[in-house]
Amino acid sequence: MSINFTVWQAQGIVFIVTLAEKIRASGERSKVTWNQRYQLIHARLHRNLLVKPAIVQNTLVASSQSLETVFVEINQKIIVVTGAGSGIGRALVEKFTAEGAKQVIAVDIDAANAAETARASACLAMTADVACEADMIRVIDDVETQVGPIDLFCSNAGLAAGPSEQSPDQEWQISWDVNVMAHVYAARHLVPRMIKRGGGYLLNTASAAGLLNQIGGAAYGVTKHAAVGFGEWLALTYGHQGIKVSLLCPQAVRTAMTAVDPDQLGTEGLQAAAGDGMLEANVVADIVAHGLKQESFLILPHPEVTEYMQRKTADYDRWIKGMNRFHQSLAGD
Ligand SMILES: NC(=O)c1ccc[n+]([C@@H]2O[C@H](COP(=O)([O-])OP(=O)(O)OC[C@H]3O[C@@H](n4cnc5c(N)ncnc54)[C@H](O)[C@@H]3O)[C@@H](O)[C@H]2O)c1
Repeated sequence: MSINFTVWQAQGIVFIVTLAEKIRASGERSKVTWNQRYQLIHARLHRNLLVKPAIVQNTLVASSQSLETVFVEINQKIIVVTGAGSGIGRALVEKFTAEGAKQVIAVDIDAANAAETARASACLAMTADVACEADMIRVIDDVETQVGPIDLFCSNAGLAAGPSEQSPDQEWQISWDVNVMAHVYAARHLVPRMIKRGGGYLLNTASAAGLLNQIGGAAYGVTKHAAVGFGEWLALTYGHQGIKVSLLCPQAVRTAMTAVDPDQLGTEGLQAAAGDGMLEANVVADIVAHGLKQESFLILPHPEVTEYMQRKTADYDRWIKGMNRFHQSLAGD
């Protein structure tokens, strides 16, 4: 067993080196992105070393497709949206319905709000707690048996709790369960089905707080970073098998979340998030539909976020000092 593993590892390293050499030698380097190159390497590693022949077929087809730009149309798709009883989720349901989705399923922990969304958009409603794995299994099973295979799953429900390290464990735990584990449960029970039928799309709502952190919102910033990390991991692991992933990362959007509970996001948190303006949820939904058609991994309704990310990675120390000064100015320290 240990000998096989060593041989397997050695083969893998040799293969990566050989493939990298081939890419360099063929001058392909400038034509493909790092992400595409990673997917190519990963796909070929699977083909050579890991997977059974039946999956090899899928891997090859999907990996060659993933190197082209394929525009995903919402028209005629079966789409689930969580957190659909309010805000961004409700706006996504309205947008997808208007774009001609075959069926949209509005899921929320709040039954009355989910029903209201469904009534307004003439679609279906389901009540579920996304932090409960059994509920997520039920949603996926019921939709797939009673409506049809899910083309696009929008894991959008989220909450802002746990403003600091002093906040009770319950606030940290619920932030983790709703803002992170809900994405894990959706992927755990959908990705295998989607791979089997040749692909599918996951849209996970994270936040700009998952890229740039959240002043006044410790558990929110931390769990949204985890959501970004998980979305990246899904994309780089399954891209070659037809699984498309987008992360929605807005700054402030006018919803119930920003309406605002001062104990949770806090006024300084809201001021920080709203520094570049508060977008309407329907505008965000339009941007999401465009991002899905382009298959953009990061959907950034506030374009400033790209520049902030660049500043952060260009000089991390400077960025931390700047954010600390920003925090002090908002807190009046
Ligand atoms: N509003 C913003 O400024 C903003 C900015 C960045 C990211 N986001 C993210 O957008 C997503 C949607 O937020 P929103 O602004 O529309 O807020 P919102 O409060 O208007 O809507 C959130 C919805 O999620 C539902 N929900 C909460 N916990 C749930 C659970 N356990 N199971 C099922 N449903 C649950 C709520 O009932 C609510 O209907 C969240 O993930 C949020 O973190 C919001």
